[in-house]
Amino acid sequence: MKRILSGMQPTYQLHLGNYLGALKNWVDLQNAEPDNENLYCVVDMHAITMPYDRDGLAQATREIAAAYIAAGIDPKKSAIFAQSAVGDLHAQLMWYLATMTQIGKLNRMTQFKDKVGKNTEKAGLGLYAYPVLMAADILIYNATHVPVGEDQKQHLELARDIASTFNHRYNREFFTLPEPMIMGDATRVMSLRDGNQKMSKSAESDLSRINLTDDADMIADKIKRAKTDPNPLPETVDGLKGRPEADNLVTIYAALSGQTKVQVLEEFGGKQFSEFKPKLSEITVEKIAPITTRMRELMADPTEIDSILKNGADKARTVASPILSEVKSIMGFWES
Ligand code: AMP
Ligand code: TRP
Repeated sequence: MKRILSGMQPTYQLHLGNYLGALKNWVDLQNAEPDNENLYCVVDMHAITMPYDRDGLAQATREIAAAYIAAGIDPKKSAIFAQSAVGDLHAQLMWYLATMTQIGKLNRMTQFKDKVGKNTEKAGLGLYAYPVLMAADILIYNATHVPVGEDQKQHLELARDIASTFNHRYNREFFTLPEPMIMGDATRVMSLRDGNQKMSKSAESDLSRINLTDDADMIADKIKRAKTDPNPLPETVDGLKGRPEADNLVTIYAALSGQTKVQVLEEFGGKQFSEFKPKLSEITVEKIAPITTRMRELMADPTEIDSILKNGADKARTVASPILSEVKSIMGFWES
């Protein structure tokens, strides 16, 4: 049995990259492997490492939970919870793990470097320690597998590294080294405005991403205006080399339609973008619209989401508490 854990931050809105790179894979995994234990959290303690809207945080947390459920995460099969609801356990383990994390390793984290830019002196300790909290999120459940998009690979390597330092230092195989699961073809969905940039929540232009809350007209408009090159689509996957925008749109089509890129190019190779884009809009709307509708319904009555989050937190606590107790005992803390 695998114990699966993953999470997303309640900052801004979820986009197609979050869906194809992570959420869709969680749902597929939940349905394909019913024996797994699944824990999906909304990582609100990570969200506060950047300036955030205090008054909107709780609602943003509910909205991410709603997106999980709307996309197909079933609260009967997967615990859905807010990280802060078990924050006492996550943060406590984080502290212990911080004592076994080398600064040199944190200095290599590209996400930190991207977020702070040149202004390292003013960066907060929370942002710097972000990957240690992420390691704690995973290790507090002794999770075996972590499905994420490609951008999280480095953070996961650090989590494995910290787990192995702990095992070494205390001379026992206590923590399982968590396996990253970077699934499917769309592990790194790119911006619609620039095929060399990741599709991201924080990019300035809303035209660069498709949000899970966009309606059909917005989706069609964004795809119509998506950057392309002047050539028709190639006949082979090889022909996508050096054409990042074309590659991205074909990848998105493939992931949404459950086909390979080869199959997509068999259908569209030689065709112009003017012919391909309306088809891409169609499938995007077909896959996203039901999620958006369900999210709206769920958000209209937060009592259901709140009760799912409460049950999820209870479940998460049941799993995490004994693991934290064992960690304390292994580390030699006083116990009554
Ligand atoms: P975040 O939005 O940073 O909380 O990310 C939540 C999840 O979505 C993580 O597993 C990320 O790896 C994944 N993700 C974020 N952006 C993308 C993208 N552009 N392509 C693929 N996966 C992504
Ligand atoms: N850092 C992840 C991201 O930005 C979010 C995250 C926090 C996470 N804790 C986690 C993902 C634990 C997987 C497991 O996407």
